[in-house]
Amino acid sequence: MPMLKIFVGTMYGGALDVAEQVKPLFEGAGYEVAILENPSLDDLTAPDTDLALFCVSTTGSGDYPGTFANFARAIADQSPGLSSLRYGLIALGDSSYGETFCGAGRQLDELLEGQGATRLGERLEIDAMETFMADDAALPWVEAWIDTQQLKVA
Ligand SMILES: Cc1cc2nc3c(=O)[nH]c(=O)nc-3n(C[C@H](O)[C@H](O)[C@H](O)COP(=O)(O)O)c2cc1C
Repeated sequence: MPMLKIFVGTMYGGALDVAEQVKPLFEGAGYEVAILENPSLDDLTAPDTDLALFCVSTTGSGDYPGTFANFARAIADQSPGLSSLRYGLIALGDSSYGETFCGAGRQLDELLEGQGATRLGERLEIDAMETFMADDAALPWVEAWIDTQQLKVA
């Protein structure tokens, strides 16, 4: 069974909740799913990581949350090259923060692209000003993502 890793960066658990809610959709599509709350660079560069979903909130002024900052720094510093990685990205944020809206998700997208990874589809940005429960936006997006990117394997 192919593996899908969900890399999570969260402060208050919203992004983790999204990961947990979408997990069964990927299982139904034929994947073994691992949710990584404290991801390391090794998780990303392991040979079984060719498809990933990132669920990342923004804190501070467009900053990565908690331990996710170390993970992102490791990618930037060690520049592993990720040309075999295909990924989707769900960014959580709040538009009342203005210019730094979804800043962590946007930075991460650039970082991954710079390492040669290929984003499948558009980035989903979930605005807490508009969407009270992030799952309400994430679930239909993931369903459509699996469909349009033809990710179903079973
Ligand atoms: C201290 C703090 C700083 C924040 N800074 C930003 C920001 O710069 N940009 C943004 O889009 N959202 C910002 N947010 C909003 C969070 O990203 C948003 O509420 C998100 O849904 C939290 O997700 P989580 O439950 O996974 O931590 C901030 C929230 C807090 C509490």
